[in-house]
Amino acid sequence: MSVHTQNSRMTTTKLRQMKQNGEKISMLTSYDFTLASLVDEAGIDMFLVGDSASNIVCGNAYTLPITIDEMIFLSKGVVRAAQHALVVVDMPFGSYQVSEEDAVRNAIRIMKESGCDALKLEGGEEILPAVKHIIQSGIPVMGHLGLTPQSVNQLGGYGLRGKGEAEAEKLLRDAKLLDQAGCFAIVLEKIPASLAKQVTESVSCPVIGIGAGNVTDGQVLVLHDMLGLNQGFKPKFLRQFGQLGEAVKQAVGQYIDAVKDSTFPNQEESY
Ligand code: KIV
Repeated sequence: MSVHTQNSRMTTTKLRQMKQNGEKISMLTSYDFTLASLVDEAGIDMFLVGDSASNIVCGNAYTLPITIDEMIFLSKGVVRAAQHALVVVDMPFGSYQVSEEDAVRNAIRIMKESGCDALKLEGGEEILPAVKHIIQSGIPVMGHLGLTPQSVNQLGGYGLRGKGEAEAEKLLRDAKLLDQAGCFAIVLEKIPASLAKQVTESVSCPVIGIGAGNVTDGQVLVLHDMLGLNQGFKPKFLRQFGQLGEAVKQAVGQYIDAVKDSTFPNQEESY
């Protein structure tokens, strides 16, 4: 790695400085080399190889089925693409809940085999021992509170979290515990902006929101959602910054027509 590349790479220390300086942090999911290369060139600060790959890449209804092997396979392409951005990989469901030893073993395996920079785990106090052990082993950990899709069966759906006083208090307490445990950042998903503001002001690490208002230190979205590739999904918090789904269908339609009427390939495109 050249000195230039090393210096221009995002680090957890730089992310913390960004929070202190009031500089917003941009994060997007990515699951493959080609799109990740474009996103990195565009200047994104952080990649998340999210377990949303279970839905977006594999077509599952939930994030729960994706495996460690599948997460490692997808992460390798993103790591190869990331010249600038910090790469965070989701620990999939079942890889950190069994025991602290199991969590550390799986965390080390994902780090070694994918080459990523950090890991993300869903949950608060209940997974704190695993979080602490992984951090003690030298791996940067990002927390994830609010709507935690790996617990969808327990939560009873994908609705807004942190609504009542008790749930809001628990979320704030969990965020402080994760911060004290040494998490380098925390994702807050689908919670009221007022609660997100309270959390952001109460912890020293950067807070990255999705469906949590503009009060957090940064934002994350699922790449395919914000590009308009995941056409059926349009929750209130999502802004589509592109209409690539339509562009893909148009281009493919033109290709099919050109094949059918034999105008592709033409003479210049033939040997
Ligand atoms: O898996 C994922 O894409 C995520 C984001 C929605 C934060 O966890």
